[in-house]
Amino acid sequence: MGWPLIGESLEFFSKLRNGVPEKFLTDRITKYSSKVFRTSLLREPMAMLCGAEGNKFLFSNEGKLVQVWFPSAITKIFPRSHDENIQESTIKVRKVLLSFLKADALHKYTPVMDAVMKQHLERDWNQSQIKVGHVVTRYTFTVACRLLLSIEDPQKVEKLGKRIGEVVEGTMSLPINFPGTAFRRAIKASMAVHKELEGVIRQRKNDLSEKSVLPPHDLLSHMLLANDENGQFMPEFDIASLIVGLLHGGTHTLNAALTFIMMYLAELPDVYLEVLREQMEIARSKEPRESLKWEDLSKMRYSWNVANEVLRLTPPSFGTFREAITDFTYAGYTIPKGWKLHWMSHSTHKNPQYFPNPEKFEPSRFEGNGPPPYTFVPFGGGPRMCPGNEYARLVILVFMHNVVTKFRWEKLIPNEKILSDPLPRPTQGLPILLHPHNP
Ligand code: HEM
Repeated sequence: MGWPLIGESLEFFSKLRNGVPEKFLTDRITKYSSKVFRTSLLREPMAMLCGAEGNKFLFSNEGKLVQVWFPSAITKIFPRSHDENIQESTIKVRKVLLSFLKADALHKYTPVMDAVMKQHLERDWNQSQIKVGHVVTRYTFTVACRLLLSIEDPQKVEKLGKRIGEVVEGTMSLPINFPGTAFRRAIKASMAVHKELEGVIRQRKNDLSEKSVLPPHDLLSHMLLANDENGQFMPEFDIASLIVGLLHGGTHTLNAALTFIMMYLAELPDVYLEVLREQMEIARSKEPRESLKWEDLSKMRYSWNVANEVLRLTPPSFGTFREAITDFTYAGYTIPKGWKLHWMSHSTHKNPQYFPNPEKFEPSRFEGNGPPPYTFVPFGGGPRMCPGNEYARLVILVFMHNVVTKFRWEKLIPNEKILSDPLPRPTQGLPILLHPHNP
């Protein structure tokens, strides 16, 4: 379990930072067990459950043997009402997000997202050289601000995006609240976003009561108008907290996904050409200037397989944590109540037992029935599986359609190093040279 207090945290984060989180796993799997081993991370005794069996166990025992657990940096960074714990607040956020997204919002939002993407291409992709990391951050933030909050002012979007970036950097830091630390910056940034959102919420409440906006046109109105089983409306403070969490969880994961899609398509011309062929066919089937529709997404089978292969090889989230809520036995070992548990997507994504020749980029793995259950888990699984996965699919496919039908591109740094802090990213932000297609 490593050193007193710090345990094996330094080694874990050093592997993450060097872009090889799977190495932390494989070293210990070889030494101890392919099913479970113990370690100490983030100052907590922790059991690492490996393979599809481990994922299945954790995902199907939520609320029975385990519950979601967040590192203390995360619980301290996000402001919440005094009487609410982070468990309750994530349950609330997933409930509200799922009810918002199910009201066929995704169908309605496909043309809106397409229009935002087209504006974004005109504004941010009009130079021959761009940094992918930078432009995709602006895109995902613009979409989130528009769909969740109806904020369109680019300066406001930029300011919020920068602050949420600081929040992300602090989430996996040591929770030391000293000036100059990533943790302190994250707390300040999270509070600043919260304050800004409180103003937006007050204004919207006025607009709704004066009927100057039609309800419920975005997630914010949806939250303000939704009441719980006791007829109570959600307090403004809690709504702001939930939106800070969503802006955090729902944009940086997408930035990572889009950045690596651009990287792999630059490196693999055959895959790029096949995506181009599929997307051009869809573009040709439409009238000039006709927007993408939800139905078009189902024709993007190959493109989605490519996106899935990117999520397999470079999962935006390396995994999440649970806590044992009772003593239990797993694979012959007792795991005591209070111990933390960790699942890592790399434990299955890079395992040749489930994905033969795992380092090879092979979109056909997702054809037919696809990978075996509990092996492909970029969005987690079970009752805590990411509720934003369909929204993410929409953002990714709208992005791929627009970028591929307009450009091909090449990387400007051939072997740019990848690191994770905590999300994976190319160290220099993936600078590329754009080549627009002939009209
Ligand atoms: C490529 C993009 C994304 C990836 C890879 C991703 C991945 C994940 C993962 C791994 C989890 C944890 C699941 C678990 O512990 O079993 C999660 C949870 C969550 N995600 Fe995402 N996510 C993405 C996009 C989004 C988006 C766009 C939103 C919102 C619009 C979102 C909202 C959430 C929320 C609210 C949770 C917490 C759910 C809970 O605790 O019950 N995510 N996501």
